Amino acid sequence: MPERKTAIVTGASRGIGHAVAQRFRSLGWRVITLSRHPLPTLCPWSTQENTHVELDLSDLDQIGRTVDALRPLLGGSRLHALVNNAGISPKGQMGERVNSLTTDLKVWQSMYNTNFYAPLILTRGFAQELSNAGGAVVNLCSIAGYRVHPFAGAAYATSKAALAALTREMAADMASMGVRVNAIAPGEIDTAILSPGTDRIVQNDIPMRRLGKVDEVADLIEFLCSEKSSYITGAEIAIDGGQRV
Ligand SMILES: NC(=O)c1ccc[n+]([C@@H]2O[C@H](COP(=O)([O-])OP(=O)(O)OC[C@H]3O[C@@H](n4cnc5c(N)ncnc54)[C@H](OP(=O)(O)O)[C@@H]3O)[C@@H](O)[C@H]2O)c1
Repeated sequence: MPERKTAIVTGASRGIGHAVAQRFRSLGWRVITLSRHPLPTLCPWSTQENTHVELDLSDLDQIGRTVDALRPLLGGSRLHALVNNAGISPKGQMGERVNSLTTDLKVWQSMYNTNFYAPLILTRGFAQELSNAGGAVVNLCSIAGYRVHPFAGAAYATSKAALAALTREMAADMASMGVRVNAIAPGEIDTAILSPGTDRIVQNDIPMRRLGKVDEVADLIEFLCSEKSSYITGAEIAIDGGQRV
């Protein structure tokens, strides 16, 4: 019988991560997920045992426990894909951008824990399992990582820029192990992370004049985790309806 492929997707309880987990499952993969909360009960796989771990990636101690918590769920199998998707974007009380001068240092630290240290620790923690499968890592960066954004805060933006740099470094370090490491940089995708006022960005800054859909992001992540992208590593691919131009 052909081997069932396995993916770990962080932050799969809603939004992009949920769509990605659904996509892998529709392809017959086993999908192991991690978020702070349980999966929503409406989720078709929420009742499946031993595929979900609840941990808070903004807490460095808990990040340190992720690999040990997830490894038993893998059950010794190879790891074909790791999608470092979990993320949060802190905003001001009115949904406004929180800037570099006033953001509390605790917020900077929790942003870097979630957006930078968690991908680092998970990727190197599962390096061997990924290598055994010739697997792929996809990191969720952001348009805010290379351009000041009206709503995304400074701590969020710089942590995503650091994650883009980490993607390149790890692509170089893991190529000889047969592991590809790429990033995607979404613009405005229709999820709960968006701020009120995003409609102005859509009208003024996005040439395609619409939000992206989570399934369109899942298409790109599926591609980056497939043989069709076998010569792509260390890339950061924008998915933003042209917002970047
Ligand atoms: N949507 C966009 O327009 C956009 C644009 C650029 C980049 N991105 C990036 O894409 C990724 C997914 O975003 P999304 O739009 O799908 O967001 P979302 O709908 O808010 O979902 C975020 C997911 O991350 C999990 N999560 C958040 N903080 C966590 C923590 N500390 N520990 C563990 N899990 C955590 C959440 O689950 P729990 O609440 O249960 O923990 C949830 O499953 C993020 O990295 C985001 O920065 C999104």
